[in-house]
Amino acid sequence: MRTNMIILLMVSGLLTLIMIAGRIIPAEETAPGETPGSSAVTVRTDEESIARGKVMFEKVCAKCHDIYGTAVLTGPGLKGVLRGNALPTSGKAATAENILEQLNNPFNKMPSFFFLATDDKLNIIAYLNTL
Ligand code: HEC
Repeated sequence: MRTNMIILLMVSGLLTLIMIAGRIIPAEETAPGETPGSSAVTVRTDEESIARGKVMFEKVCAKCHDIYGTAVLTGPGLKGVLRGNALPTSGKAATAENILEQLNNPFNKMPSFFFLATDDKLNIIAYLNTL
């Protein structure tokens, strides 16, 4: 009986690992709108990407970032973030490439979002572009 329980626990642990790996690995694929082997990012402007990006933003970014202004919550408010010249904290150029970089290798204290699928990150950028 005890051995059966241990085997069951090991199998379910393995399944969880496989599920996590399946979530992480597709993030490395080149998503539509991204040029392979280059850092150029085409900002998506279709309604569907923007709507998906809004949902993702509300889920993972909104607790630290306001969208209605530029005041700092935990992170800077992101209203008009792609319309200004410079990103609010690092002062890097306000480009989609630099925002993607912020999600993958964040400047300073922000947690990394490298584990999100590239598709989700590009949708978040599509949404940021509308703020
Ligand atoms: C736990 C809080 C937290 C979460 C969640 C978070 N951020 Fe941040 N973010 C920060 C902080 C803090 C900064 C200011 C820079 C720093 O000190 O790391 C920042 C900075 C930024 C900047 C400005 C970077 C620059 O170069 O000036 C952008 C753009 C940004 N975040 C976008 C996002 C997006 C998009 C998400 C969701 C995927 C997100 N953040 C999730 C805390 C957070």
